[in-house]
Amino acid sequence: MSATIIDGKAFAAEVRGRVAAQVAAMKAAHGITPGLAVVLVGEDPASQVYVRSKGKQTVEVGMNSFEHKLDADTPEAELLALIARLNADPAVNGILVQLPVPDHIDEAKVLAAIDPAKDVDGFHISNVGLLATGQKAMVPCTPLGCLMLLRDLHGSLSGMEAVVIGRSNIVGKPMAQLLIGDSCTVTVAHSRTKDLPDVVRRADIVVAAVGRPEMVTGDWIKPGATVIDVGINRLPPAEEGAKGKLVGDVDFASVAQVAGAVTPVPGGVGPMTIACLLANTLTATARANGLAEPEGLTV
Ligand code: GUN
Repeated sequence: MSATIIDGKAFAAEVRGRVAAQVAAMKAAHGITPGLAVVLVGEDPASQVYVRSKGKQTVEVGMNSFEHKLDADTPEAELLALIARLNADPAVNGILVQLPVPDHIDEAKVLAAIDPAKDVDGFHISNVGLLATGQKAMVPCTPLGCLMLLRDLHGSLSGMEAVVIGRSNIVGKPMAQLLIGDSCTVTVAHSRTKDLPDVVRRADIVVAAVGRPEMVTGDWIKPGATVIDVGINRLPPAEEGAKGKLVGDVDFASVAQVAGAVTPVPGGVGPMTIACLLANTLTATARANGLAEPEGLTV
């Protein structure tokens, strides 16, 4: 069997198109332009690339983008004061503080300081609790993107066996909540799970989010299963000075022989994350203004 390759790049472009159309309609009907503020502390190169890309795509869908770049040694109090200003600013509908923050800043304190209604990352414990109890929440972008891909492929996920590999707050745990919400039978596996390949072999849906390059191989996969690869790992370069190859947590070549469908890296889940960030910003704007929920962009 040769798997369908899920084109996350194309699907993300379609989602951004839907966001752009609804932003235009909101502007025309209500004179409201959604605004997203992104805060970056320090000069981590990967974070700088993400932040640039977020700013560019925010403007492309017709939203206002506010970028705040702070020095790596910015005191925690200064960051908290900026968040307080953004919370109070009516032009800002979404706030994202790029993680990781430098060691001298308490990440939990920063996330708790963001107004839950503007928490487009869905990391505030209010949103975590709302998601866990099946209520309207801001949903973390990467798991939301994975769910959109799965729903697009399967329609209903009801009754399917899902195995999530990884228990992070950003991906593993919220992914499990979303799959439970869609009536899957969910197992969350992690580094201490015994007989991991046997556990994964039960799954109709595998979501790999562990950060271990090419860990999941074809012999772990039930024939016909859908495999979603959240990993982004750079392998050591083959020669000095070159850039290492980008791979996921899934060994694409062997898994594609067995799976029914699989996401590639790059071009799978990655592009969906920013598309869902824009979707969340639109959702936050609609809710803040008492307007109808955007269509097809929330769970
Ligand atoms: N760093 C890596 N992924 C993310 C994310 O989804 N949100 C934020 N804020 N920082 C990140």
